[in-house]
Amino acid sequence: MDKTGNSDTATVLAGQSAVPVHVAVIMDGNGRWAKGRGLPRVAGHRKGVERVRDMVTACAEKGVKYLTLFAFSSENWRRPVQEVQLLKELFLSALDNEIRKLHKNNVRFRVIGDTERFGEKITSRIRQSETLTQKNTALTLTIAANYGGRWDIAQACAELARRAARGELDPDTITEKSLEPFLSLAGVPEPDLFIRTGGEQRISNFLLWQLAYTEMYFTPILWPDFDRAQFEQALVSYAGRQRRFGLTGEQIETARHA
Ligand code: IPE
Ligand code: IPE
Ligand code: MG
Repeated sequence: MDKTGNSDTATVLAGQSAVPVHVAVIMDGNGRWAKGRGLPRVAGHRKGVERVRDMVTACAEKGVKYLTLFAFSSENWRRPVQEVQLLKELFLSALDNEIRKLHKNNVRFRVIGDTERFGEKITSRIRQSETLTQKNTALTLTIAANYGGRWDIAQACAELARRAARGELDPDTITEKSLEPFLSLAGVPEPDLFIRTGGEQRISNFLLWQLAYTEMYFTPILWPDFDRAQFEQALVSYAGRQRRFGLTGEQIETARHA
């Protein structure tokens, strides 16, 4: 219990700092970036991979512990087959080129999403990369590929249902907490800062469950132009916000100065 008479205030304030622990990004605008230069869309995706590299370095330097990037949504299969094919090839070559460096820099690499659909070659390469880097501690880089927030919640519900059917779980005891261990990002703190580049102000079926109290940052800058300085601006915006989680501003201020 604190001075404001609310035991939740301390919990809310605990672990809050000026630097986000977990940053989640929708890297959007590659196609428009390329089109604006008279280039094929894939040129924008290629440039986008360079920005991923910069972002990983910047996060490690700033002390961000988790970086989650939306690379391919469950809806992106609707794109022309040729673009989907090029994205798969780019993903594979980026993985081959970068994984050793990520490992050397103590970065843990993970992929979330229904990755089976990418085929055996990509899934086995993902598994190898995850195994290689699983003990790394500087930063966890999670790539969301064939990911959808609704899929994530549905597959966690399916797991709960399986347990209930086996008699291991009483449905009447299910709470929000029961679902969390089965979500793709189980064990990872929820994102503190969400960034979407490219000007659209929507979630596009990204981390629906986990973004409940995340600070949102939308920028018109296209992903291939989202450089270090742009990221710093997002961090400054984040640092200036008061996160209340349902409390009043006064409760937060009182507890902070206690
Ligand atoms: C984001 O850029 C990358 C992926 C969705 C794979 P886009 O390809 O969506 O770029 P725009 O939105 O068409 O400019
Ligand atoms: C969201 O971007 C998915 C990724 C960045 C991977 P989209 O470009 O697919 O989103 P919409 O279709 O404009 O909402
Ligand atoms: Mg887009």
